[in-house]
Amino acid sequence: MIDPRALPKAELHVHIEGTFEPAQIFEFAKRNSVTLSYPNVAALEDAYKFTDLQSFLNLYYAAMAAIRTERDFEDLTTAYLRRAQAQGVRHAEIFFDPQAHLERGLSFETVIDGLWSALQRSESDFGMTTALIMCFLRDQPEASAMETLELALPYRDKIIGVGLDSVELGNPPSKFQAVFDRARANGFLTVAHAGEEGPPEYVWEALNLLKVSRVDHGVRSMEDPTLVAHLAETQIPLTVCPLSNVRLRVVDRMQDHPLKRMLDAGLRATVNSDDPAYFGGYVADNYRAVFDALGLTDADLVRLARNSFESSFIDDERKQRYIGEIDGLVATAP
Ligand code: HPA
Ligand code: ZN
Repeated sequence: MIDPRALPKAELHVHIEGTFEPAQIFEFAKRNSVTLSYPNVAALEDAYKFTDLQSFLNLYYAAMAAIRTERDFEDLTTAYLRRAQAQGVRHAEIFFDPQAHLERGLSFETVIDGLWSALQRSESDFGMTTALIMCFLRDQPEASAMETLELALPYRDKIIGVGLDSVELGNPPSKFQAVFDRARANGFLTVAHAGEEGPPEYVWEALNLLKVSRVDHGVRSMEDPTLVAHLAETQIPLTVCPLSNVRLRVVDRMQDHPLKRMLDAGLRATVNSDDPAYFGGYVADNYRAVFDALGLTDADLVRLARNSFESSFIDDERKQRYIGEIDGLVATAP
């Protein structure tokens, strides 16, 4: 088997707040004099037993209380970049959730300046290119998303696109049509979480109403043959997160995960980590988990890595350079 960590890859679905490791949560809480409702790291980790998306989000938002300063965002991001580099990530498109910080009284500037301080050194320090995607919280009103978009406009050069995350059921993409229209008019690319817990209809809405360039998760698309045919035809990428899907009970066991069926149906599926600090592994760990459980081949892993660059928002020249790195690895593999 190819070592998945050696395979050059892009990570296209990772929430920076989901890379907040338990030890770091306590470190930040201490330096910011924030009191957590768990006495220590072991007690916090003991709570990482999720039954669905909502049960995870409760903890995900609670942990954010420890993040207060620009330096916190910088340190969080630098720690992610270091781990991603060790996992063979050459390019990362990173989600962040500004509304979750604004509602705690932080400024948009604190968030973006902290993230940017780390990202501007990603090439020199970690040999990685990066981009930022700002997600709207779909369980908040559209007006709040619209206000957040206004705050982001002065930082247009630092944010490549907008996305949609948080509680999916009951919050269809159609709720955000106007804000996505405005985002696209201002030059942002669009993506959306859809078909994680929500039905295939939400994937159709993300495509037709939000005009997304990629679908995040999208695994429930497999329930709708017409949608599968459409995704195969258009080659709209899907950013699949296998360990997340198991931990949030989107699928019962990794052996039941639809990734192999998605590849066999000709879909442009990629493998990503989502919230690696919470779901038991970073991106190469996800590659390994699907390899082991789904009987994938080395050729499948290579396809997934190629798909990751082809699905990314980097220019064609860079794409070809990164794909060339994969070809180089394959050519020298035993
Ligand atoms: N789904 C929806 N919202 C999220 C997720 C997810 O997997 N992770 C962080 N916010
Ligand atoms: Zn996600």
